[in-house]
Amino acid sequence: MIKIAVLVSGSGSNLQALIDANLSGQIAGVISNKPEAYALERAQKAGIQTALIEHKQYPNREAFDDAMHQQLLDWDVDLVVLAGFMRILSAKFVKAWEGKMVNIHPSLLPCYKGMHTHQRVLNTGDTLHGCTVHYVTAELDAGQALAQGVLKVNPHDNAETLANRVHVLEHVIYPQVVEWICTGAIQHTARGVDYRGQPLQAPVQFCKL
Ligand code: GRF
Repeated sequence: MIKIAVLVSGSGSNLQALIDANLSGQIAGVISNKPEAYALERAQKAGIQTALIEHKQYPNREAFDDAMHQQLLDWDVDLVVLAGFMRILSAKFVKAWEGKMVNIHPSLLPCYKGMHTHQRVLNTGDTLHGCTVHYVTAELDAGQALAQGVLKVNPHDNAETLANRVHVLEHVIYPQVVEWICTGAIQHTARGVDYRGQPLQAPVQFCKL
């Protein structure tokens, strides 16, 4: 059984969706870099062990990442799932977990990497928006996209309503992608990503239009 660690910094609604999905893999532990993250309570309620590794306690990014890396090794983790984890990871850490670490980002990547995606979508006047699950590489929000949830931007949407609507999609696609990794339906190989034995040409799409 695949052992999963979920890295969080905040509310942890995606962590909750992963817990509720009864995955084939086991969530072996949850790491937070923030003591106040509600995600820690969610994990504890579900009987999942937690580790608080506060970035502020470390002299630099590398030292913080080394502490997380050691915790992941101690838990014997196969897959790292970033779920609202708000720290940039060092190149060394990303390399160590290459092909074994995924993230969810609230935009249709490659559009709107980085922060404030909902407002930027509104400012541009886009009619479609959504979220992307992708492998993590050294370049921010640039690893291969595995799945996307797509929704239509309504005329009355603001950044808050969009964030809420995107979250609903996130809670569908993230557990699905993690389950595909747990069951081997998605595989990271030396020559790329396979989905059900075929090279993945484009992210799997889930639409709520
Ligand atoms: C989500 O919007 C996700 O796309 C982004 O951070 C947010 C985390 O939300 N990476 P939550 O903590 O899972 O509720």
